[in-house]
Amino acid sequence: MSLPTCGARRASFISLSLARIAMASTLFVAFAGSVVTPTSAWAKTPAPKAVFDASAVAAPDRYSADTAQQIFAAGGNAVDAAVAIAFTLAVTRPDAGNLGGGGFMTVFMDGKPYFLDYRESAPQQATRDMYVDDKGNLLPGMSVVGHRAVGVPGTVDGMWQAQQRFGKLKWKQVLAPAIHYATDGFPIESWLQQRRDAAAKNFAGKTNFDAYFSNLKTGVTFRQPELAQTLSRIASEGGREFYEGRTADLIAQEMYGHGLVTKQDLIQYKAVWRQPLSADWNGYQVITAPPPSSGGVGLIQMLKMRADLKQAFDGLELNSAPYIHLIAQIEDRVFADRQQYIGDPDSYRIPVDKLTSDAYLAQRADEVKPDEVPGAAPVKPGLGDALPEKAQTTHFSVVDKWGNAVSNTYTLNGDFGSGVVVDSAGFLLNDAMDDFVTKPGSDKAAGANSDDLNTVAAGRRPLSSMTPTLMLKDNKVALVIGTPGGSRILTSIFQVMTNLYDFNMSPADAVAAMRFHHQLLPQKTIYFEPYHPVTAELADQLKAKGYTVEAQSFNGDVQMIRIDGTTPQPISDPRGVGVARVVR
Ligand code: DON
Repeated sequence: MSLPTCGARRASFISLSLARIAMASTLFVAFAGSVVTPTSAWAKTPAPKAVFDASAVAAPDRYSADTAQQIFAAGGNAVDAAVAIAFTLAVTRPDAGNLGGGGFMTVFMDGKPYFLDYRESAPQQATRDMYVDDKGNLLPGMSVVGHRAVGVPGTVDGMWQAQQRFGKLKWKQVLAPAIHYATDGFPIESWLQQRRDAAAKNFAGKTNFDAYFSNLKTGVTFRQPELAQTLSRIASEGGREFYEGRTADLIAQEMYGHGLVTKQDLIQYKAVWRQPLSADWNGYQVITAPPPSSGGVGLIQMLKMRADLKQAFDGLELNSAPYIHLIAQIEDRVFADRQQYIGDPDSYRIPVDKLTSDAYLAQRADEVKPDEVPGAAPVKPGLGDALPEKAQTTHFSVVDKWGNAVSNTYTLNGDFGSGVVVDSAGFLLNDAMDDFVTKPGSDKAAGANSDDLNTVAAGRRPLSSMTPTLMLKDNKVALVIGTPGGSRILTSIFQVMTNLYDFNMSPADAVAAMRFHHQLLPQKTIYFEPYHPVTAELADQLKAKGYTVEAQSFNGDVQMIRIDGTTPQPISDPRGVGVARVVR
């Protein structure tokens, strides 16, 4: 569903004077009800030199932006702020933020890039055919709603590993804001109630969703005492408490007799540090998500093919019919490769170098022709049909004044995940198992998944589109970007990057500009969105070329920071309710 339009969601740039920083720190101590003082950690080592004029955040709600501001005021770095945001969103954005899901974090720290894969994994008892009956027919809804849809959650281990490795503050300090929001509550806005109401219909009679979230109503101060206790346990015992302590027991108990995740699965779960993908583009170094995300490969492919086709694009107006036609042909090739070659890199050797090499992409770009008939491209057919309209992933971008950055996308997958709440622990579990091919040898709703590479297997991580991305110029962060949107993630990020660097738009215009989506399947279909509906004239021109024009209710919630010289410029997508803030 689409995020509603509401009030001041354009970037509000807030600079704190020194006096106000001091005040913010004091307030933070008071309201968080925890020991949160400006850290003395910096005192142990020489004070790092500021690289940027300020720290900055672009976050998908105001509470998490406040959290980032408080963490910076307490002396935290970008990773501290990111981890604190992730825990805050697990409280204030139960539709998307999570403890019971997974995601990816791209980090730039002390001059080096890193990538943390905390994607969910299939439980040990999971099997290739677990979502089909004896005749091979899909058991409707089973991979989407309820206990069997749940993969082993990765978020808490991801946050734990990131903060232990790179954070400056104490672990407890970064959890304090989330514990505050869970304990004392926060006022619910109408868009969250709308999302709740829509999701609740799917869960009715199937999960315990309403026992925890029936009160998610506009104007209510929503408190989550069980979640506060869970967060407090994690705060005092460390991230592994979720996998080995009382929280793990509560998850296993919730699953027992209904789902497949066991305590052993939780004990075995570990987030994985992987080599991020890196590519040169337009004088920048793009740092992005490797498999099991398909997003980084796809993004690099799109950027490079478009650059290779510079002559064909020259003089074409942005988002004109001939422009969209060329991009759609590029996207056909990207999504054909996605379904053919990308899956869990711990199960298969993924030919990432070849798929992103200049020579291969020049050859693929050469296949793109202005006069090609849509759908007639000699690209391998995929396995899917409809494009699902999920909106329940979320992204945030952070930079600190020392030049470090975090681009983080994490998810429950669908609307409030599986709808299953861990009894006595108060958090929702994901339905990430639906990102596997659930009916082997057949169509798949995501429209772009490989049958063989992405079938369910014990311990495997499902293919993802999440694409938290950074760009470096002379080894300094120049852009931090990401968005939710399933397979629209990579096409959205591509469009914003092109708007910025090929069309020289301002960050605000680049994010607000019209976005469209196309992928290999459904063939010949161009999707538009309510924020920038397609004009009748453009629709007619695309139809005349052989396309079908479809409306979709959602096309991303980009949270981006561009660094102009040494000045961070954060932007929250006007399509959402995010907040962008500079913190001095
Ligand atoms: O990992 C993925 O690609 C999906 N589970 C993400 C789903 C998503 O982004 C839905 N949000 N719009």
